[in-house]
Amino acid sequence: MEEPEDVVLPGWAAGLPATSAGPVPIGEVDVDACGRRSTGLGELDRVLGGGLVPGSVTLVGGEPGIGKSTLLLQALAAMAGAGARALLVTAEESAPQVRMRAERLGTLAPELHLLADAVLPSVLAHIDALRPDVVVVDSIQTVFDPDLGSVPGSVTQVRECAHRLVVAAKERAMSVVLVGHVTKEGSLAGPRVLEHVVDTVVAFEGDRHHALRLVRAVKHRFGSAEELGLFEMTDAGLIGVPDPSGLFLADRRPGVAGSVVVPTMEGHRPLLVEVQALVSPSTLAQPRRSAQGLDHGRLTLILAVLGCRVDFGPGSNTDSGALGTSDVHASAVGGVRVVEPGADVALALALVSSLTGRPVPADLVAVGEVGLGGELRQAAQTPRRLAEAARLGFRRAVVPATAPVAPPGMTLLRAATLTDAIHQTWSGS
Ligand code: TYD
Ligand code: MG
Repeated sequence: MEEPEDVVLPGWAAGLPATSAGPVPIGEVDVDACGRRSTGLGELDRVLGGGLVPGSVTLVGGEPGIGKSTLLLQALAAMAGAGARALLVTAEESAPQVRMRAERLGTLAPELHLLADAVLPSVLAHIDALRPDVVVVDSIQTVFDPDLGSVPGSVTQVRECAHRLVVAAKERAMSVVLVGHVTKEGSLAGPRVLEHVVDTVVAFEGDRHHALRLVRAVKHRFGSAEELGLFEMTDAGLIGVPDPSGLFLADRRPGVAGSVVVPTMEGHRPLLVEVQALVSPSTLAQPRRSAQGLDHGRLTLILAVLGCRVDFGPGSNTDSGALGTSDVHASAVGGVRVVEPGADVALALALVSSLTGRPVPADLVAVGEVGLGGELRQAAQTPRRLAEAARLGFRRAVVPATAPVAPPGMTLLRAATLTDAIHQTWSGS
């Protein structure tokens, strides 16, 4: 597929009306015109800042099979159930296929209309006739205009079709959602240019082998792009997960060496995630280092710091040099990615725990960044993280020396260095 050139589109193409009624004092601009329509899915609304804005275009991108069609069918059905006239343009699956899925999900809503059509002019004509409030086009890569000459799915087709749908959304004040398939590398296959054309870009992610699905706004003209929505894919479709920390820790087995819980932040949400490490003797000249759901660079950094800066103390029969001749596997459990430096201390403790065979106390979490000198630095929003850990029953937290006061019911083990953190973690055992 040809590479899309990065074009800057004029304002009208980026979603503004082509003509206006002239200048208005800023205080008199009508904000109510942005009244949002709830999608009926709380976790999706959270990411959208309350719901879909009339006249706006939202692109939902994700890998094939991740659940985009399911998510949007559920949302459309909920909106139709709440009185909106909803249209699902299905250009990939047949109408009977979609109906069968809707039946299985228990989402057959009378105001939900299906149109199995991939030809854009015909789709636009049907939109004119039906006058829907919300339209989902599944997917933007499969709709095409025969007059354009290029093949369906080409950059020209995708960009042109998206642009016409943007204009249609503005003209009719309807909310349009475009489904876009994303390649493994994370770029929207072909139409990166779409990101400029639409108002909101939502990424729908997850590990195919896990039930967890994450929704986040990559770009958002009508609100914060920091919020995260969480769903679980079940036999009954996607179910919102308003309290995710419990989900991530459900299968945890306390008392096993190499496991540490970190209160991480996903957008504005604290999330407790188990970090695991396995250090095992290697037979390779160059031992393996693998990081799943964790940042590979941070794993390497922490191994280097453990090797050079950490003193396991007198009487310890552990030699940090053993790390250099061991295979190291580390992962964030549950299909979530934890790449922030705030997980450093937890990862370091998990490594030491596996190396020494000593489990970390079950009621302990760890949060903080590790510097190259082996010093601990505070992670952003430490109080919120600790409050979430306390809420889930954790009683002790290894934190940098500078951390703020503990939430009720929690004891802080303050450590200036990683050596200090290791001693504090196992001081009682
Ligand atoms: P789908 O929404 O078709 O993905 P996309 O549109 O992103 O390609 O979802 C596909 C997967 O979701 C499929 O492998 C089956 C699974 N699934 C469930 O587990 N439960 C369900 O209720 C539904 C509808 C799908
Ligand atoms: Mg699909």
